Amino acid sequence: MDKSKRKAIIAGNWKMNKTPSEAKALLEEIKPLVADADCEVIACVPYVDLAVAVEAVKGSNVKIGAENVHWEEKGAFTGEISTGMLKEIGVEYVVLGHSERRQYFGETDETVNKRTKAALAAGLKPIVCVGELLWERECDITEEVIARQIKLDLWDVTEDELKNVVIAYEPVWAIGTGKTATADQAEEVCAFIRAQLAKLYNQEAADAVTIQYGGSMNDGNADELLGKADVDGGLIGGASLVAEKFAAIVKAAG
Ligand code: 13P
Repeated sequence: MDKSKRKAIIAGNWKMNKTPSEAKALLEEIKPLVADADCEVIACVPYVDLAVAVEAVKGSNVKIGAENVHWEEKGAFTGEISTGMLKEIGVEYVVLGHSERRQYFGETDETVNKRTKAALAAGLKPIVCVGELLWERECDITEEVIARQIKLDLWDVTEDELKNVVIAYEPVWAIGTGKTATADQAEEVCAFIRAQLAKLYNQEAADAVTIQYGGSMNDGNADELLGKADVDGGLIGGASLVAEKFAAIVKAAG
């Protein structure tokens, strides 16, 4: 598999961490450490941090992403944020369908698909998260679960739109648990995702999609994970909150 066909992307998913002033401070620490990165570097931050974060990274190679977005442009959706709001302040990426949203906030493949379509239509780049639960892996249905998520989450996404989609494979059992998938397990599922994309679109389109691994990725295991043929980057939780650790992962992707 020729990795040069796609962009390596290391993205931090800060989750519900860092106030605006803390976000600015962390980004100021991160910027010089990743200035010579050979990959795309993104920080996905809480909504209220976004404006400060966009300002803080101006003139640097760090891009800013949100952690969710609603699919309607405006209206009576108390507590929600639209694509237009994100675009206007300079947000480029958005994490969608994270397992924590699926698990705690009723996110379904249908709503992930609506958000993905809306993000693409607005010119935002979605990082669409998929992954199996521990018991689904134990029951040996990982591939069925992933195939279903890929098909439904990308339903009606055109081949042209796919160029702006990033997929993050995050086995739910590896998130925040310190239990990383082995590099072989990560590669197996990332390669399976690419094969599904080739089926739904074509091989050329599938080869161009960046597929990240996420789940307890850190400065100690990033090299091995990112060395795999179909693992093109990482979506990093805990380790993205420590500038040196995040920078070391970025280095491993170069
Ligand atoms: P951890 O890196 O903390 O396991 O989180 C992974 C994740 O959920 C990134 O989206």
